[in-house]
Amino acid sequence: MASKTLACFCCLALTATFALAQEPKQSSEDLTGTWHCQFESPFGLQTYHFHLVIDTAGDATLKAEVDDRDEKRKVVFVDVKFDNDSIEFAEVRQFGEREFRIEYSGKLSGKELAITRSFGQRGGQDAVATRNLPKPPPKEDPAPVVDVKIDRMIKDAFMDSFLVGMAGDLPSRYSEQELKLAAEHFAAVTPENCMKPERVHPGEDRWNFEQTDALVQWAEKNDMTIHGHTLVWHAQTPNWFFEGRDPETVKRRMKEHIDTLVGRYRGRLQSWDVVNEAINDGGDAETAKTENLRDSNWLQTLGPEFLTLAFKFARQADPDAVLYYNDYNIESGPKHESSMVLLRRLLADGAPIDAVGIQGHWRSGRVPFEAIEKAITDYASLGLKVSITELDVTIRGESGGQFGRRRFRSSSPPSLEDLNVQAEDYAKLFSIFKKHEDVIERVTFWGLNDRRTWRWGQHPLLFDGNNNPKPAYASIIALADGKGDENTPDQSNNVKIEDGGRGPYSAIATESKTLAGITIYRPDDLTAFGSEQQLPILLWGNGACANTTEEHKNFLNEIASHGYIVLGIGPLDQLQQRGEASRQRTSSSQLLAALDWITAQDATERSIYFEKIDTTKVAAMGMSCG
Ligand code: XIL
Repeated sequence: MASKTLACFCCLALTATFALAQEPKQSSEDLTGTWHCQFESPFGLQTYHFHLVIDTAGDATLKAEVDDRDEKRKVVFVDVKFDNDSIEFAEVRQFGEREFRIEYSGKLSGKELAITRSFGQRGGQDAVATRNLPKPPPKEDPAPVVDVKIDRMIKDAFMDSFLVGMAGDLPSRYSEQELKLAAEHFAAVTPENCMKPERVHPGEDRWNFEQTDALVQWAEKNDMTIHGHTLVWHAQTPNWFFEGRDPETVKRRMKEHIDTLVGRYRGRLQSWDVVNEAINDGGDAETAKTENLRDSNWLQTLGPEFLTLAFKFARQADPDAVLYYNDYNIESGPKHESSMVLLRRLLADGAPIDAVGIQGHWRSGRVPFEAIEKAITDYASLGLKVSITELDVTIRGESGGQFGRRRFRSSSPPSLEDLNVQAEDYAKLFSIFKKHEDVIERVTFWGLNDRRTWRWGQHPLLFDGNNNPKPAYASIIALADGKGDENTPDQSNNVKIEDGGRGPYSAIATESKTLAGITIYRPDDLTAFGSEQQLPILLWGNGACANTTEEHKNFLNEIASHGYIVLGIGPLDQLQQRGEASRQRTSSSQLLAALDWITAQDATERSIYFEKIDTTKVAAMGMSCG
């Protein structure tokens, strides 16, 4: 080991680990050469291909090629120090005007090199490097489990109620297909990051308008309204704003920031998130009686007055823009109470605030519907408008608006059951939004598709990673069309097979907008059924696990005509004409999801199946793989 590196190591906490290592020492040869390693990053999986060369003088050169989800880059590491079986080095990355230093330390263990990296106070990550190439991360999500067809764009379906928007720093780095998707389906755009202080105003005298100008032009060209995000926030805001901590100076900097940015786009942006996330997380009965403001630099330098000031400066900079207070988790619990205390004070102080943004980072299966509806009416009672500004409903794991909660990322696709639960959640949410359309201005999704989302791996949005619409999209449209419940099923695509079968109840093959990917065989006329006579359930899986009941349609239809409801895997349209979708992989969980669905229908008063299903009689059958 070179003595200079030893001297350096002594100042590091890691020294102890090296000294205590009892394993037989391996020579530095073992560290040299190529190693491959994958890290989960906030932007997806990163694969590092490290190359370590040690010259005869004992100096090390460490380089890597890195595969990020969207790019390939080359890194030359600095401050490389190595021991027989341990190594340390650093990566310096430039983000806009800011420089980040990522510290790495690695230790050989058998054939593996265990690597830890850390980003100052932002926490760290562990990974294992090996000599073998890891499997490449999926570039795009695998094929969808269901083929969802959309006959109406979401923005049109709610045109008379509110705007439907998406977030992203368009158009740069988006594909043509994604840009088309965004412009076709959405009526509003929110810049996801490029208008935040750290990006647009990295230094007191430095502004970056390239991306923001491009976004505004692109949105205008596509007839989309633009919501500015965000002016005054504790995060993604450079420290220069607070340097010296003199209140008058900080106030002047806030005013100049707002004047310049809001002024530049005056008349072109329709609304702004003026203050973002000023209230603390959690809280209790005591804090609920107070504003419970977050201990941010803004609060520390300007006091609670900082909010009123920000709103006043924004109003001066663009008198016509709709001005928002925006926050997450403000719909429920003590944080909601605090938001009411805060808003009342702002209004009483004459802060020109027009609307509240409920961010809407929720989790499938745990959406607080009642609280959301109450919060909407609470804010309306203060005379404020409401928007859902950052909607996403994650499958698996936390959502929440907090940073750094990404423990549940995974690149595995969601099951049909997951997708159906998410679809139900979204439909319920939109039914609440529609009910309160007089108050709701806009509902914006935080991202475009399940690849363009800060909750990557949790499948939170309406399009999958390949831009295919998910069941959630269909269920929202069905809701808009008044077809959310099975009370008015869409009969237009029904299929009649062999004259309805030979049983006493002429059967049809049909489908439901709220149950994606399943063909339903049942008696056409359900009036004969009720508490006296109910339909037992047959769940059906196809040979070769095919995604169509086409081969067995006569058989299934015949059974239905004798007074059964059959739920078979495969979309209805594959009955008439088998296409690519019929070869998609199916899974038995689809039948469980279908069983849940029909059980729920049986219990729903509005449904045509209400109390007509014998949920105690369930048979599961299939052919071969099915
Ligand atoms: C997120 C972006 O989506 C990420 O790309 C970025 O790394 C961090 O910020 N609340 C907000 C948004 O108001 O600005 C945040 O956006 C998500 C939480």
